[in-house]
Amino acid sequence: MSKPTYYLSTPLYYTSGKLHIGHAYTTVIADAIARYKRLRGYDVCFLTGTDEHGLKVQKNAEAAGKDPQAFVDELVASIKDLWRLLDVDYDIFIRTTDEHHVQSVQTIFNKLYEQGDIYKSEYKGWYCTPCEAFWTELQLKDGKCPDCGREVEWVTEESYFFRLSKYQDRLLAHIEAHPEFIQPVSRRNEMVNNFLKRGLEDLCVSRTTFNWGIPVPFDQKHVIYVWLDALSNYITALGYASEDDTAFRRYWPADVHIVGKEIVRFHTIIWPILLMALDLPLPKQVFGHGWLLFDDDKMSKSKGNVIDPVAMVDRYGSDTVRYYLLREIAFGADGNYTQELFVTRSNVDLANDLGNLLSRTVAMIEKYCAGQIPASERATDFDESLVAVAAVTKARVEEAMDGLRPHEALEAIWDLVKRANKYIDETTPWILARQEATRPELVTVLYHLADVLRLVAVLLQPFLPRTPAKICSQLGLPVEVIADWDSATPGQLQAGARVYKGEPLFPRLDLATELAAWEKKPLSPPLAPEIDIDLFGQIDLRVVTVLEAERVPKADRLLKLKVALGDEERPIVAGIAQHYRPEELVGKQVVIVANLKPAKIRGVESQGMILAASDDNGLAVLTPDRPLAAGSKAR
Ligand code: ME8
Ligand code: MG
Repeated sequence: MSKPTYYLSTPLYYTSGKLHIGHAYTTVIADAIARYKRLRGYDVCFLTGTDEHGLKVQKNAEAAGKDPQAFVDELVASIKDLWRLLDVDYDIFIRTTDEHHVQSVQTIFNKLYEQGDIYKSEYKGWYCTPCEAFWTELQLKDGKCPDCGREVEWVTEESYFFRLSKYQDRLLAHIEAHPEFIQPVSRRNEMVNNFLKRGLEDLCVSRTTFNWGIPVPFDQKHVIYVWLDALSNYITALGYASEDDTAFRRYWPADVHIVGKEIVRFHTIIWPILLMALDLPLPKQVFGHGWLLFDDDKMSKSKGNVIDPVAMVDRYGSDTVRYYLLREIAFGADGNYTQELFVTRSNVDLANDLGNLLSRTVAMIEKYCAGQIPASERATDFDESLVAVAAVTKARVEEAMDGLRPHEALEAIWDLVKRANKYIDETTPWILARQEATRPELVTVLYHLADVLRLVAVLLQPFLPRTPAKICSQLGLPVEVIADWDSATPGQLQAGARVYKGEPLFPRLDLATELAAWEKKPLSPPLAPEIDIDLFGQIDLRVVTVLEAERVPKADRLLKLKVALGDEERPIVAGIAQHYRPEELVGKQVVIVANLKPAKIRGVESQGMILAASDDNGLAVLTPDRPLAAGSKAR
């Protein structure tokens, strides 16, 4: 018999900069759901990936002085590292620069053009580059992007358009007939009232003023609108419109697309209409979650208040970071990130409630039972109420997870953990241990505690991938005993295992130390792997004098310099135009990597790279402390 399938996705992350802890939120939630469904016996396909095309990515690559492909390759590597650090166990990682994706998107565009759903015209309107979104005059808020509040630019260009208007009634009917399609309900109402009922305008789906995108197959000066490109990933990742569409036939339609609230509109209007035009079934659900707020503001790269998830995992471990994200914020609503809340959650829930329950239990089994888990012998007055809580926990977790409420699932598990701690206080094993007559009750208490910890270990697996194995190891149980989700019922523990007192599950954090650590540490990026002095010796660093500097037309971040290196002169393109005016640089000495392979950046030859460093206050080029002969070697 084949397993039922479950297909879920995160959005594709923009490869325009580093990810912050808010991005990790979407992915960790999706991962917990995927792990849960796997444990429940589903054949799960968990899709994530990266959104690599578009103006924003192209601009940021330019600013970094890099070729866009090289730029996104690096970011993709760091994004994959982050998911590995956070134990995100996806099944497919799609990149919109993957050849098969590019081809399928072109096939889709062709098909829509041929059937008349895409047509050529002229676009006149506003564009928000950070959101990669088109807006009409009426939609703007105080002349700014209604989604993010940033500047928009006026765009007039020949474009292809997608006939959204043709499908709007069908979409409205679908949304009304399928109340589960857009969740939570508040987001559905917003889509229906603010967009669908006001009438849809046809969507501009190509651009001609930059080139980092998928070319329109029959009109190569156009690139396909990045959202059309990116949204298609949910089917191209499965092989739609390719030679092998087995996975597509197996998993489509998706069970749920998990997305942040600011992109619900793209996923519940443009995406379903695209699917309708392709004559494909719609995803069963789009779930729009809230934001992780940082000092009550959405945390985002462009606003600068970024918490680096890599640094967080380094310092606290992935389970602690995951726990915070899954537990602190009711899924669907906004939630706050503060260091105080983080430390409190870690100390109270993890170190105290769970960590102490395990360490006390193991210590008592060592002390009173020579380290061996005893069988229960004679009931105490408190067993029944403990077992009653243990008996319903699995069902509570299932109910919460089936409704995509991970915070409630964890709440249910912690109700049991707290109940077990209370059971220790009620039964006072240290008093039972004083007399031989109460030994049967003593061993019963210890059995129940170990059994509850086993049960908790089973249920924690989707949320905290590392902790359950640690619990097993201290209880002396092979991890196989927690493999079966259905074993999360009381009384399944076999007596006899030899416990082993290990490290505390979670360290106790000191709030003052943690606050100071983050204040002092400006979150400098982690060090690259160690290298040999020989490798460093291959890099030829030289002091050069800047002779000329000018802007590169149409590239607002680039400067073209001419520098003197000994008696040689060479051109260098640098992504520093937003930090230096050309005239500020002329006459300055800077350090360059002189033996870097020459490259063309925006059609301009560049022979070498300027060393510069940046922090929260901007970017600065490195310059010698006193004038040196141009061409002097730096080492
Ligand atoms: O939107 N709190 O990519 P993205 C919670 N490429 N979630 C947050 C967040 C925060 N502070 N900041 C970001 C895109 N996110 C498009 C998607 S899909 C075909 C294309 C979430 O990198 C955000 O809501 O801007 C979104 O779900 C995800 O991170 C990726 O955002
Ligand atoms: Mg975004």
